[in-house]
Amino acid sequence: MEKAPRCAFVIFGISGDLAARKLLPALYTLHQEGALHPESQIIGYARSDYNDASLRQKMKEAVQKFAKDFDEADWGGLESRIHYVRGGYDDPAGFEALKNKIDDLKLENHVFYTSTPPNAYEGIVVGLAHAGLNSSSGWTRLVIEKPFGDDLKSAQALNKVVLQHFDEEQVYRIDHYLAKETAQNLSVLRFANTLFEPIWSNRYIDNVQITMAEPLGVEGRGGFYEEAGVVRDVVQNHLLQLLALVAMEPPSKYDSVAVRDEKVKVFRAMESLEPHHVVMGQYVARGNMKSYREEEGVNSDSRQATYSAAKFTINNWRWSGVPFYMRSGKRMPDKSTEIVLRLKTPPHVPFNVPKDFKADRLVMRLVPNEGISLRFNAKEPGRGEDMKRVSMNFFYDKEFSRPNPEAYETLLLDSMIGDATLFMRADEVEAQWRIVDPMLKWWEASDAEPAFYAAGSWGPKEADRLLQDEGRYWQRGDEGKFKS
Ligand code: BG6
Repeated sequence: MEKAPRCAFVIFGISGDLAARKLLPALYTLHQEGALHPESQIIGYARSDYNDASLRQKMKEAVQKFAKDFDEADWGGLESRIHYVRGGYDDPAGFEALKNKIDDLKLENHVFYTSTPPNAYEGIVVGLAHAGLNSSSGWTRLVIEKPFGDDLKSAQALNKVVLQHFDEEQVYRIDHYLAKETAQNLSVLRFANTLFEPIWSNRYIDNVQITMAEPLGVEGRGGFYEEAGVVRDVVQNHLLQLLALVAMEPPSKYDSVAVRDEKVKVFRAMESLEPHHVVMGQYVARGNMKSYREEEGVNSDSRQATYSAAKFTINNWRWSGVPFYMRSGKRMPDKSTEIVLRLKTPPHVPFNVPKDFKADRLVMRLVPNEGISLRFNAKEPGRGEDMKRVSMNFFYDKEFSRPNPEAYETLLLDSMIGDATLFMRADEVEAQWRIVDPMLKWWEASDAEPAFYAAGSWGPKEADRLLQDEGRYWQRGDEGKFKS
């Protein structure tokens, strides 16, 4: 594993949930693995009333709870390197105090991570610049959490402020889905093998389906979800990124310039979502699960979508005519994220074709049981011509003894090493907004009710119709599931 150079890792919003659940556990694991430089320091910044000792105690509890493997001695080696600076996100005195702290620690390389509510990002960027912290005698990087804007205009405005004070090469916009192993493996599967790439086009692929299902509801994030909804929360970012990894042309190199150039080309070849290609759904009560409208912080007549299904098209030679269907929802039966490539049926099958004959499919599964599975038809033993669906499976946990790193471990390490391949570029994030923004504006201006679905089900029937009308069907999560 590559090792990070010596640096100050500054977390704005250290008192929040993301820092406790993901960031500190990831930094701790990197420290355990020897990837964090032994002299690097972590500086937490927030408005809350902490000091070094109380922050260290809070972080210890978080790491004990959320890290894979807590060890008192390992923690001891990190704890004394955690510091606290108290300040507001638009408070010049706070940024001065931060600068003094960094100067005291004599660290010339700096990562600044915005783990705050998004409305604080602009203040942080300006505050850093005014304190002279947007450059240093070493390197300075700014990691910005999602969501990056809440529509095209706000994303453009945020990019403008960020790029007034930082160079694009210094900016790392997070989408943690890019750091999932299967997401990265998609490129290896396609570009380090000869087998798959020749079929990877409208010649052999009938449709592509991307599903992200989550059994949880909005879990105390009702207020946030009322603003965001499923399209802003996961479609505009995670799911469009997965689509781009499936659809992009082979990059000349696997680096931050070539890979992101190819993804941007995919987004530019896509038209904005047509309202009639989208189903916006919302869960209603079933059993002991309440309806979205009953969740804390949610309006009792909210039209916010907790589910969406959509059909995207990509206007280029490779993908013309191949629909990319995408669905995502809260309160689904399973936690499952997968990409399915459904191949076309063979032009002629010289056997007795059963009624339920299905074409081959390639499933790339991100959650659970990360891996890849190929389903195809095989002859059943015996004298007849009967066929059966069989699978060839690759599972990460069977093949490799080392557990997959958490996405945040990869991303934090990359931000310290200076590899932006798994982060989003300014033009990329704007291109993604261009695809969903008009549809969101249309939905927000309309007064149509969402398509309701029972909590714990696979979504509204309108979403099934979206595919049925085109002679296709969703790859059900349970059908697509394969166990190691
Ligand atoms: C986040 C969304 O970005 O991704 C959440 O805000 C969602 O709503 C989460 O639950 C899913 O991430 P993962 O890694 O658990 O699949």
